[in-house]
Amino acid sequence: MLESLRRFFNDLAPEWDDKVYHSPEKIRFILDITGVAPGFKILDVGCGTGVLIPFLIEKIGSSGEIIGLDIAEKMLERAREKFPESLFPTVKFVHEDIMNFESLDKFDLIIFYSVFPHIQEKQKCIEKAASMLTTGGKLAICHSESREKINAIHREAGSPVCHHLLPPAFEVASYMKQAGLQILHSIDTNEMYAVIGSLAN
Ligand SMILES: C[S@@+](CC[C@H](N)C(=O)[O-])C[C@H]1O[C@@H](n2cnc3c(N)ncnc32)[C@H](O)[C@@H]1O
Repeated sequence: MLESLRRFFNDLAPEWDDKVYHSPEKIRFILDITGVAPGFKILDVGCGTGVLIPFLIEKIGSSGEIIGLDIAEKMLERAREKFPESLFPTVKFVHEDIMNFESLDKFDLIIFYSVFPHIQEKQKCIEKAASMLTTGGKLAICHSESREKINAIHREAGSPVCHHLLPPAFEVASYMKQAGLQILHSIDTNEMYAVIGSLAN
């Protein structure tokens, strides 16, 4: 399953940045409500070609650290070309499935931008992410399009993503609560989708 998903996104990697539009205003709004700030250590799960990286750098400046994680090595190749370590020393990319990712450090923000529908074991994944948060750290599951639009795109895209659907925000919020997080925002509108939880102090 994961292997066919990896191949699917590897095949899309060369055209990804030309094919997919992301509203900068909506991305900035979502990042604003996560409270991301200079010095944050961030895990960008399913980073793809690094679409989110410039917006994260805008927020944290030259301090903090960003780790982009992805199962598709061709997506990561594009990301590394765009954000070489020599020019972006605070940005690193790791080729790994979130479910197998291990880190000695905890994160101030773990963000799943346009990736959560592809996660098979959603509750388990949220528990894993929650276990990697600092006290007060935030978990954000978000899209800059509506749930209806995301799900329609996946249904039309065929195998292996046609059944990869984004659950309603209240369902994701309940997964987060079960993982011990406090819900800060739950947005599921025609404009965007963002569920943000925090590991209480
Ligand atoms: C729809 S793309 C979005 C990429 C990027 N976030 C963006 O918005 O352009 C989903 C990405 O998640 C990655 N992905 C899917 N399942 C994953 C997993 N279990 N662990 C890490 N990455 C995963 C895919 O390889 C793909 O690059």
